[in-house]
Amino acid sequence: MDKSKLKIAVVGATGNVGRMMLNILAARGFNTSQVKAIASSSSLGKKISFGEDDVLTVDSLSNFDFSTVDVALFSPGGKVSAEYAPKAAALGCVVIDNTSYFRDDPKIPLIIPEVNAEDIRDYKNKNIIANPNCAIAPIALALKPLHDEIAIKRVVVSTYQSVSGAGKAAMKELDQQTRSLFTGTPAPAENLPRPIAYNLIPHIGIFLESGYTDEESKMRAELKKILDSTIELSATCVRVPVFVGHCSSVHVEFEEPFFVSEALKILKNAPGIQVMDADDPMDYATPLDAAGQDDVFVSRLRQDTSHPNGLVFWTASDNLRKGAALNAVQILELLFEYQSKQKAA
Ligand SMILES: NC(=O)c1ccc[n+]([C@@H]2O[C@H](COP(=O)([O-])OP(=O)(O)OC[C@H]3O[C@@H](n4cnc5c(N)ncnc54)[C@H](OP(=O)(O)O)[C@@H]3O)[C@@H](O)[C@H]2O)c1
Repeated sequence: MDKSKLKIAVVGATGNVGRMMLNILAARGFNTSQVKAIASSSSLGKKISFGEDDVLTVDSLSNFDFSTVDVALFSPGGKVSAEYAPKAAALGCVVIDNTSYFRDDPKIPLIIPEVNAEDIRDYKNKNIIANPNCAIAPIALALKPLHDEIAIKRVVVSTYQSVSGAGKAAMKELDQQTRSLFTGTPAPAENLPRPIAYNLIPHIGIFLESGYTDEESKMRAELKKILDSTIELSATCVRVPVFVGHCSSVHVEFEEPFFVSEALKILKNAPGIQVMDADDPMDYATPLDAAGQDDVFVSRLRQDTSHPNGLVFWTASDNLRKGAALNAVQILELLFEYQSKQKAA
């Protein structure tokens, strides 16, 4: 079968991730007439773009019959996925879920196609595949080729995460709080824990007994599940007043010394990674450089002066793409390829 014949539902189609999924599906040659846009009943009948030329009409999740589609890309929030993804899966539709709800289920594969494509074989366990957290996906992508060369022991990371990672309501909050300085109209923090305009917030998710937030804890658990369970990770996740693009400062300790020149050579050949000009320290990537791009940008790669086996680097990536929608569509393509091979065998 041609991939343009796949019947696909995008659940959460009016949200940040869902709209990006529709854009990416259109850009990668999926067929408008085969795609259904699904959201809450309050969006029923709304028109939504599919690529530059086509428009879809939004259906409501509660009325949708998942037996009419082959695959559903879900991003309606954890609670909604928890209720509807298993129902869709039971009707034979394969769910690729962007929320965190299924990621730690050992029976459900958590996939970054460039890192652990082989785990696709487990999709049949529950007919559900999980898409990783938008902060860990770009880091895991950069760490994979380095770990293949010299084993990683430990990673210490600080993230700088844009408000689009917290949904469209958080983007509106940054916009309104920024304007409020000029208009005098108060714009209180409602979706984020503190005011975000002209500020930053070292608090993403909920605090756990350990003192970490659940976002920080997810990064550790997901890196272990995707790349290698022996790698330790400690994260501090920070929300910054940027609309799109997550960045991170990554300190990696390897089993042995890893020369910068060697690491650069490896990263330059790694899929999905764009290494900035290593000879020019001014050539680093910011969220503005990464927004709208599929690749994860790696810059400021250097030896860690605090550890003989350490490297330090900076990543910048579009959180709605590799951290969410692009990775989900790549999983869909991987699934299609896997199913086609299985049928042919
Ligand atoms: N943003 C990111 O970078 C990112 C990355 C990875 C994962 N995620 C995860 O993806 C999910 C969505 O994120 P987002 O940023 O796209 O959020 P968002 O912009 O707030 O959009 C939420 C979407 O879910 C739909 N929805 C909400 N309640 C629903 C219900 N009861 N039934 C059906 N649809 C419902 C909304 O539809 P209406 O418009 O009709 O309300 C909207 O389409 C979250 O779980 C998030 O953690 C986000």
